[in-house]
Amino acid sequence: MKKLNRALFAGALALVCTSCHKVTEANYQVIPLPQEMNFTKETPFELDGNTTIVYPENNVLLKRNAEFLAEYLTQAAIGIDNPPTQAVAEGAEVKGQTIVLGLDPTIENQEGYVLTVTPKNVFIKGKTENGVFYGIQTLRKSIPPTKTGFENIALPTGTIKDAPRFSYRGMHLDVGRHFFPVEFIKEYIDLLALHNMNTFHWHLTEDQGWRIEIKKYPKLTEIGSIRNRTVIGRNTNEYDNTPYGGFYTQEQAKEIVKYAQDRYITVIPEVDLPGHMLAALAAYPDMGCTGGPYEVCPRWGVFEDVICIGNEKSMQFLEDVMAEIVEIFPSEYIHIGGDEAPRTRWEKCPKCQARIKAEGLKADKEHTAEDRLQSYCMTRIEKFLNSKGRRIIGWDEILEGDVAPNATVMSWRGSEGGIKAAQMGHDVIMTPNNFCYFDYYQSADSKDEPFGIGGYVPVEKVYSLEPTASLTEEQAKHILGAQANLWTEYIATPQHVEYMILPRMAALAEVQWTQPEKKDYKDFTSRLARLIKLYERDGLNYAKHVFDIKAEYNSTKEESGNSNGAIVAVLSTIDNAPIYYTLDGTEPTSASQLYNRTGVVIDQSADFRAIAIRPEGTSKMIEKKISFNKATLRPIELIGTQPAPKYSFGGANTLVDGMIGNESYSSGSWLGFIDGDVTAVIDLGNPAAVNAEPIKVKRVATHAIVELNSWIMGSTGLVVSVSDDNKEFREVASKVFPAETDINKKEIGNYEVTFEPVNARYVKVVIKRTPALPKGHAGEGKVPFLFIDEIEVE
Ligand code: ACM
Ligand code: ZN
Repeated sequence: MKKLNRALFAGALALVCTSCHKVTEANYQVIPLPQEMNFTKETPFELDGNTTIVYPENNVLLKRNAEFLAEYLTQAAIGIDNPPTQAVAEGAEVKGQTIVLGLDPTIENQEGYVLTVTPKNVFIKGKTENGVFYGIQTLRKSIPPTKTGFENIALPTGTIKDAPRFSYRGMHLDVGRHFFPVEFIKEYIDLLALHNMNTFHWHLTEDQGWRIEIKKYPKLTEIGSIRNRTVIGRNTNEYDNTPYGGFYTQEQAKEIVKYAQDRYITVIPEVDLPGHMLAALAAYPDMGCTGGPYEVCPRWGVFEDVICIGNEKSMQFLEDVMAEIVEIFPSEYIHIGGDEAPRTRWEKCPKCQARIKAEGLKADKEHTAEDRLQSYCMTRIEKFLNSKGRRIIGWDEILEGDVAPNATVMSWRGSEGGIKAAQMGHDVIMTPNNFCYFDYYQSADSKDEPFGIGGYVPVEKVYSLEPTASLTEEQAKHILGAQANLWTEYIATPQHVEYMILPRMAALAEVQWTQPEKKDYKDFTSRLARLIKLYERDGLNYAKHVFDIKAEYNSTKEESGNSNGAIVAVLSTIDNAPIYYTLDGTEPTSASQLYNRTGVVIDQSADFRAIAIRPEGTSKMIEKKISFNKATLRPIELIGTQPAPKYSFGGANTLVDGMIGNESYSSGSWLGFIDGDVTAVIDLGNPAAVNAEPIKVKRVATHAIVELNSWIMGSTGLVVSVSDDNKEFREVASKVFPAETDINKKEIGNYEVTFEPVNARYVKVVIKRTPALPKGHAGEGKVPFLFIDEIEVE
């Protein structure tokens, strides 16, 4: 339809049909939440097929922004198809219903924008074109993602003033473990744009595959991009014996850089050195300490064969690679890795030892000479890149030794490295694994996600990240921003990538963009439901865990018919969907007990199950086995060996909280011990204080995870003693359990010992660990983890 006709047609409709003309209001409560909004309650601006997008003449960036907006409005399928875009001369009058893009030098932040809606116009102004782009993103997310009938979109009048909190807002993608095609990389970049992110960290090289063409070293891709086989499952001893490969030509990489640039996104390439280099070593064995032979790595993990820093040819190789990388990628920063580089080869290599000597690298109390050898390598590459006008980013391992002087540190092993680096005056990007590793599970239940890599990072956890926590105001200035990382050992398809990043990316977007005082998880989830509609429209395979029932189990001494106390199950969903539950292990239905929103009090053994029922369907069922016995909710103390900090969760009380852990060792129900046997003393209560009979005990049981692929083994024995005073203990029973020998075993082990009834106030249980991983295991002879839960006393 020609423009004039279209205007006449719409006008006629308006005349004929003003009363039937349905209007849907836009909603500016988007993700990330803008910093400031003020509404004026005038007649809303009506976005319809007549709306024109105008931009200043001769501004090619704003012209492109106008085209993006036209594309977004068309995608929204709200009855606006390819709205016209039009250049206007400065000072020229703009007629009709228009969205006006422009620059405003008075806006402070380089990426800031002001979006003003009046009855006649929408103005999106930025200090830069970049800022205008974010105003467009906000407008795009404010309108319904799809049409729900014949309707126009009403934009409430007012002003949004917005700017990001952090200047670095990143997402990482590992294309080494699995390769993703150019078209998908573009989709990934589009998702960054949708979430107001501005940096794509492209992890291009790995042990398992070298993915970027380097012209001076063609074998890097000829040989290094293909592994001949891939391990099946979680590092079993079986392989698929199928070649797997893929790489990006320099032309393709440049195409990605341009695609990202058009969307105000910087691509930061990572060439990970001196570790994670097996693919390169397979191509050029001379670059390793032993000379090989090497294989493009078919397994996952950290490997001892790394670059030989003593060999000048290897150092030249790294510089040559970087020389081509800077020609492809114009980013200010180049990421040079530095993580997980074992020192074992360097310790034995004559060339590396000669380099240590020649450079005068010395060990001290904290660092070995080999740590300093790695620092030598990082600093040398930093100098090389500085000479090309670039700066380096390295993983937090670069703090071990002498930190390359101008390096920006990417903190991944928690936030500690980043905090230390900021205190030392280095710039920092926060990507702490416990908040930002999107390869970690999204569900506390590992059954749901057999190939998560461990760790539990639900949307709420991502949302709770505060990148500047524990820093002074001055130190906090060194935190450039935050990023999530997606390592792809167990993620082989674009659909699986989408599932791992969405909607966690939405939570991250708000960490990166929105000021902390405006952040509120509950409010976020209500806005998330709308963003998810857009994911649905675009056919994205987002994870649905946010709609699951959230359950908290607290203990109480009140309201209980049981002298030990009771457990209160408090349930919620992000959309307040009705929840139904049972206590007898039967599947709940809409005929079951309706949850009353205050909590279910449970004071005896139960098999608790609950579901949320929505018109669209039934949620995943939550299930909790609750066991009440003499130890439940009683005081408990661990003597000696304590759980590893990462797996200590609620502490010793976890073992008598009445709740039996499921298959997932990282769910919070299990305590994980790295070393030593576990000794617990439980106070069963003083019967004299309540004039009761002495407490009799005749059975003690516990449970442990057996999951040899994850280096976790069960118990090999229980020893039970009793005492009246918590001082003198008398052994009453012990039992030995055989150590597991099947290296693929995965189960929950049950361990119990029964004996003649004895009177007891205090019960001491020693839970013996398995001393070593069995023959044939990748960690043969090493000490496995011991994960235990729930000590039962009857
Ligand atoms: C890392 O996760 N190895 C940086
Ligand atoms: Zn060497």
